[in-house]
Amino acid sequence: MSTKKRVLTVIGTRPEIIKMAPVIPVLDRLFEQRLIHSGQHYSTEMDSSFFEELALRKPDANLQVGSIGSATQVGRIMEGLEREIAAFKPHAVVIQGDTNTTLAGALCAAKHRADGVKLVHIEALARSYNELQAEEINRRIADQLSHLLLGLYPHDIEVARREGIPAERVAIVGNTVADGCLRMASVIDDAVTLRRVGVNRGEFVFVTCHRQETVDSRVTLTELFRALREIARRISVVFAIHPRTRTRALEFGVDLSSGNGFHALDPLGYRDTIALVKNARFCMSDSGGLLEEAATLRTPMLILRNEVEQTYFVDAGIHSLVPPSYRTLTQAADQLLDDPHELARRRDVQLLIRTGVPEAIGQKIAELLG
Ligand code: UD1
Repeated sequence: MSTKKRVLTVIGTRPEIIKMAPVIPVLDRLFEQRLIHSGQHYSTEMDSSFFEELALRKPDANLQVGSIGSATQVGRIMEGLEREIAAFKPHAVVIQGDTNTTLAGALCAAKHRADGVKLVHIEALARSYNELQAEEINRRIADQLSHLLLGLYPHDIEVARREGIPAERVAIVGNTVADGCLRMASVIDDAVTLRRVGVNRGEFVFVTCHRQETVDSRVTLTELFRALREIARRISVVFAIHPRTRTRALEFGVDLSSGNGFHALDPLGYRDTIALVKNARFCMSDSGGLLEEAATLRTPMLILRNEVEQTYFVDAGIHSLVPPSYRTLTQAADQLLDDPHELARRRDVQLLIRTGVPEAIGQKIAELLG
């Protein structure tokens, strides 16, 4: 019988797969790890394609919850995890980020606290301070319940203090995104992606948008598309459209066709995404992961949100916040297109990008489990 500590790791959505891909092999080396996929994301384009591209081993079980109402989704994931925890008897449950899968993992681990099960939260303490956001609620609950909070930036210690979380539970390790995207950027052939999409290096803007607060609003989503078509008159716009965004756009009667410099694409795999982020003049997105990838690859981003968790990149000056409307988006894009010096200044901003994060995470979990 193995003398290694048992760790039950829970993933379920595209960002969790991407951000945990470099961590899972480290945990496999250090612990007896059981990897559980909730099945929150399930289609090839949101799920299995990333396992292939990131050479990530298969999960040990898939709970196959699929797309259902949020509360039911959390409940069903908990039901599945309950069985897994009872059978595997982990010393720790490891969760990442802020999705419904993350919340279900946190709640289920907490129910087994009396059995000695510890909870580890990766990408802890990120805050948007928008309490209407599902992700903000998920993160706060997960953090309150965690024994080990692995934060991204030094100021996360202050967040913990304000929320009454003891400093000894917190370790600042950084984000796993940089390790993953630098690894991918070093092996891909960008030209293949650019040729397939039909754009040239530096001559396009790369766009993604999927957050409920943006795409579930008829006004915001309609204005976003109108602004992107306007920007496409000046520079090609490549928009990789998330399934939620596509569904809402169809409901709101938004035209999804490509043409006149506007390239409407299905969600992309990791290889293509990194190639486009790296070669774009700038990006426009509401994704937290993409924001970090763009910073790592030194591509400025207009963040399509009212507030952001990673204020570091806005304060440093590489990215800026642009609450999405037709006027704000076209103005912000015009400013960058009209002023190449500003673009160059943003690209040259000095940033602290940590690497070696997966190993640091493994070490902190090992210390916790003794
Ligand atoms: C979820 C996360 C969000 C994360 C995002 C990344 C929550 C509360 N939200 O939002 O934090 O940033 O994932 O994508 O957990 N769909 C597919 N194929 C799939 C999965 C979903 O087509 O594999 C479609 C379904 O129509 C579904 C919709 O996308 O209704 C939304 O999926 P869902 O998982 O509910 O939320 P996301 O918007 O993806």
